[in-house]
Amino acid sequence: MILVTGGLGYIGSHCVKQLKKQGEEVIILDNLEFGHLGAGSGAKTYIGDIRDTDITRKIFKENDIEAVLHFAAYTSVGESVQNPQRYYKQNVAKTIALMEVMNEFDCKMMIFSSTAATFGEPKFVPIDESHPQNPKNPYGASKLMVERIMKDYESAYGLKSIALRYFNASGADPEGDIGEDHTPETHLIPIIIQQALGQRDKITVFGDDYDTPDGTCIRDYIHVNDLAKAHLLALKALRNGHATDFYNMGNQTGFSVLEIIKAVEEIAGVKINYEIGPRRAGDPAKLIATSDKIEKELGYKADFPKVTDTIATAWNWHKKHPHGYEDKY
Ligand SMILES: NC(=O)c1ccc[n+]([C@@H]2O[C@H](COP(=O)([O-])OP(=O)(O)OC[C@H]3O[C@@H](n4cnc5c(N)ncnc54)[C@H](O)[C@@H]3O)[C@@H](O)[C@H]2O)c1
Repeated sequence: MILVTGGLGYIGSHCVKQLKKQGEEVIILDNLEFGHLGAGSGAKTYIGDIRDTDITRKIFKENDIEAVLHFAAYTSVGESVQNPQRYYKQNVAKTIALMEVMNEFDCKMMIFSSTAATFGEPKFVPIDESHPQNPKNPYGASKLMVERIMKDYESAYGLKSIALRYFNASGADPEGDIGEDHTPETHLIPIIIQQALGQRDKITVFGDDYDTPDGTCIRDYIHVNDLAKAHLLALKALRNGHATDFYNMGNQTGFSVLEIIKAVEEIAGVKINYEIGPRRAGDPAKLIATSDKIEKELGYKADFPKVTDTIATAWNWHKKHPHGYEDKY
């Protein structure tokens, strides 16, 4: 059985659905702080916090957990700068509590959601796994700390983990059942779509004076189902005895904010109302990843290499569910 922490959130829920499609038995642990009951694809669900060892012990006692896919975390870079304590506690201390129970129950495999933010300001692009990690904010630092813990726990306890460092997760389940529903929403594609649907008067582009062809920031958008696919491959690798390892997850192509706006305009058939605002502190001009390593070592190949296909799945979800999941009402 596979335990998915944060399985009612955006990326976790897409992994749950794909795991179930592959015939895996899945259990979700989510405290519903940001998750949605409607996102669980019918998997057995425990509502609780990963820090609560009463509930994690209960889960491990009641179920034979072979591996943990660990998504549960706080995810806002800006908030982590304002309130680092909240991030180190949530993303580091609570992960240690979870891994302690894994050790207690001899659970030896974990797949961890890491991030592009562990790299900080890029020295070169595309960013590969040899790129120095020098996070510029507590969010990135909290994830890098867990990467370090993974190495030490493998040496000391034989707990093998794979960290997948996502660049910009985007898109939605192509069947339109689950998708991205964050409050507040901070991700570019859903924000533009909200404007396309008339839910926002306008959107702000943070800076158009970067050293990029159109002056706006360039990011690498990876489809959420491709991330799910990578998790399945990582699970297979761990089952085959793969050691603790780290993989960057991007599409090796960058798109500027204005290019993404244009792509949404074409897919939605509406003009987006946007204004240019000041730069946001700490935004690198360009973040692009190479996924060569996971392609070569684990046989990963993206199903959604084209950003327009990714945006189309997001548009499909938002059009079908303009207010997201219904559990908010
Ligand atoms: N979205 C991205 O572009 C992106 C990029 C890089 C890394 N990540 C990482 O991927 C993971 C998932 O991100 P997401 O966008 O799906 O976030 P999300 O907020 O949609 O999902 C996180 C889920 O975890 C749950 N959760 C949070 N803290 C918990 C706790 N202490 N106990 C139990 N449940 C808890 C929330 O209720 C939510 O359902 C995170 O670890 C994030 O740092 C995301």
